[in-house]
Amino acid sequence: LKSSLLAAIDAADTPDALEAVRIDALGKQGSVSALLKTLGQMSPEERQVQGPVINGLREAVTSGIAAKKAALESAILNQRLATERLDMTLPAPESPRGTVHPVSQVMDELAEIFADMGFAVAEGPEIEDDWHNFSALNIPDTHPARAMHDTFYFPDQMAQKDENGDGKKMLLRTHTSPVQIRTMTSQEPPIRIIAPGRVYRSDSDATHTPMFHQIEGLVIDKGIHLGHLKWTLETFLKAFFERDDVVLRLRPSYFPFTEPSVEVDVGYSVVKGKRVIGGSEGWMEVLGSGMVHRKVIEACGLDPDVWQGFAFGTGVDRLAMLKYGMDDLRAFFDGDNRWLQHYGFNA
Ligand code: PHE
Repeated sequence: LKSSLLAAIDAADTPDALEAVRIDALGKQGSVSALLKTLGQMSPEERQVQGPVINGLREAVTSGIAAKKAALESAILNQRLATERLDMTLPAPESPRGTVHPVSQVMDELAEIFADMGFAVAEGPEIEDDWHNFSALNIPDTHPARAMHDTFYFPDQMAQKDENGDGKKMLLRTHTSPVQIRTMTSQEPPIRIIAPGRVYRSDSDATHTPMFHQIEGLVIDKGIHLGHLKWTLETFLKAFFERDDVVLRLRPSYFPFTEPSVEVDVGYSVVKGKRVIGGSEGWMEVLGSGMVHRKVIEACGLDPDVWQGFAFGTGVDRLAMLKYGMDDLRAFFDGDNRWLQHYGFNA
């Protein structure tokens, strides 16, 4: 029996076949189990002889099965290792790639265009005090322009003290013009800077979001006049829209911090029912500008009889919409990945 069982174990070539041999030998009805049961009916003398023999058989069969089981399992593992090899030549699954947001893209384009004209990039805080955002820009407390700006103010307890100990109200800057003040008070002229950044107004519809982006430009030098302003804006808008037929229209306007003030429209033509920049079938307002007001130059501690300049400010989001054809400003800030994949730029 022993040799036939060991031969059966040896012959089993799958775990299932081996399990069948085990049940045949060691199961309830198994041959070895049957022999073990006979021990009970034997006389003590007989049992003393047969006991070790039968138990030895059981142990031999049990350990034979265990050894065979381990051998079969390692054979199966080796087989899997040999066949389930990773094919490194297969193309990798595509992973999502980010894009450059159109606003960032346009800010980079603008910085590049103005860098070519000798403008450096300046920055200022988004949390401003009311002196930089308004008073120094010739917008005193009582000025109606303050109401027009729909300003987000911080609570009075957060006011900062100026050098005289007076409270300066804090707010989210409503335009990038305070960077004009910060630059003139910290830098010696001549000055040529642009200042792109976030600005905030309490306003929201298809063409207004409470946060949007502006870019400010400022030139302070000797003998600067409106002609310099016009040339700069024309050069910038032609480069930005990548067209030579960009036509500008300068309209007299009013800003407290420029005198004279000029609003700039850019001409468009209608192609297949869509407005395209270039030509002069119609006009779109794109920016506000003017010669820096004497009072602003004075407020920054400079002599307006020596230093003159011009400034302009425009909406970056609006410029992006005009150049790349988006129609709802709010989509810029929804963070919808499908929109970003469509309008975003590959890095
Ligand atoms: N700050 C103005 C605005 O937000 C734009 C502007 C900037 C006008 C500089 C003139 C000069 O509307």
